[in-house]
Amino acid sequence: MKLGVNIDHVATLRQARGTVYPDPLDAAILCARAGAHGITAHLREDRRHIQDDDIFRLKELQPLPLNLEMANVESIVEIALSVKPTEVCLVPEKRKELTTEGGLDVVGHFESIRSTVRCLTEAGIEVSLFVDADEMTLAACKDIGAPTVELHTGPYCNAEPNDRAVLIEQLIRGADYAHELGLKVNAGHGITRENLGGILCIPHLDTLNIGHSIICRSVFVGLEQAVKDMLEGIQDYEG
Ligand code: PXP
Repeated sequence: MKLGVNIDHVATLRQARGTVYPDPLDAAILCARAGAHGITAHLREDRRHIQDDDIFRLKELQPLPLNLEMANVESIVEIALSVKPTEVCLVPEKRKELTTEGGLDVVGHFESIRSTVRCLTEAGIEVSLFVDADEMTLAACKDIGAPTVELHTGPYCNAEPNDRAVLIEQLIRGADYAHELGLKVNAGHGITRENLGGILCIPHLDTLNIGHSIICRSVFVGLEQAVKDMLEGIQDYEG
């Protein structure tokens, strides 16, 4: 199981004061040193945290594969084609949301997602679609030609304890179905050390993308330690 660290909120701190620090690139280098397997960054249309220049520098100046999260909009697709990250994860985006709220409506936007997936794939970028774990959506991801899905774990992670059993069942069934379809399965959103045990009941997982809880913990223990703690948590449950 691999860990991709989402470093958006390092940039959130920087943008809060309009300074040049803390630099997400420095954060990525520390994540690599701690043993993370990848770096994830979301270039939002409103540029509230990560900026264009960050993405170019993250691609060029740190050693880990870069997973660029982005909305399916032309101006951002153009940037992706110019940066050529290892992977792009297409996510839905609303300007007023605090963070990504739901999975992509792959069925409703089938043609435009298919055309973007084709364009990015032809440029040598692996495409992942951030989706809720329902069968119709996963089948559409397969039909579109995306090799990877990232299952949206937010509803499970943020649920009241009594509601969690149903939600983890949906994720397990979704992961099984995606795997049967031949899709690579990642997961992300809202994952913490506390809910990691439940998340790791999901089968066939390749990569967990985790941001907010790691960056928050890093305030107290430092980023390298926070990444190591999450990696250790993953190994404990796997072992
Ligand atoms: N995966 C996707 C697609 C996301 O949009 C986000 C949030 O940017 C994450 C993973 C990381 O979520 P969190 O910050 O809650 O760990």
